Amino acid sequence: MKAPRLDLYAPIHKALRAWMFDTVVAVGSIDGRDEATLCATLRKVDGLLAICESHIEHEHLHLHAAMERDMPGSAREADLGHQAHGRHMRRMRGLMAEVQSAEAVARFPLLTQLYRELAMFVAENLTHMQWEETVHNEALWARHTDAELDAIHDALVQTIPPQEMAEVLRHMLPALSPLERHGMLADMRGKMPPQAFDGVLQLAHEVLGAHDWSSLLCAMDLKLALPAGPAMAC
Ligand SMILES: [Fe+2]
Repeated sequence: MKAPRLDLYAPIHKALRAWMFDTVVAVGSIDGRDEATLCATLRKVDGLLAICESHIEHEHLHLHAAMERDMPGSAREADLGHQAHGRHMRRMRGLMAEVQSAEAVARFPLLTQLYRELAMFVAENLTHMQWEETVHNEALWARHTDAELDAIHDALVQTIPPQEMAEVLRHMLPALSPLERHGMLADMRGKMPPQAFDGVLQLAHEVLGAHDWSSLLCAMDLKLALPAGPAMAC
């Protein structure tokens, strides 16, 4: 059996799907009369849109650039999709501003509109991500070795500020399968300064359930003492 090729889209798209679903549910169940919950949920939507904008830029600068260099026009369909996503996100930001400035009693119809706009945005993104994970991956795999794809990935990751990376990992780590999670962390351990990798492990400890956390420790042969609790080992 042939070894699977390096899939640059799979981890971030799993994170985005989980993040999107979670945000749709949060907006659907919001109480527009509760200022604190409303603000927290709108911040959640704002955070999702910010990460989507950043993700589009990363794909454009790193993946689409590599595809267009080898095969002009190969990223055009997804570029058009990104432009449509940009317009959709601007509409949602406008709606969010309307919600914030509306009287509490007038918020319900606006929140319903925001919920439906967000759900449609997610629906469009699901189709878009499927296109990238099939058509784009085939194009990338046909013209690049895994080592070249890994170099593209590393160059992309270098441009992500630490706070954004932590926010992405917070959603990505629980969304991955154990095999993907262990592989990704093993790769990070080999490429990051030890102190920065310890920070990633702290985050993993925070967001993973007990079973996934202990499985991670075993898979990576780690014995770790975290400040918040007793030493754990497999
Ligand atoms: Fe995309």
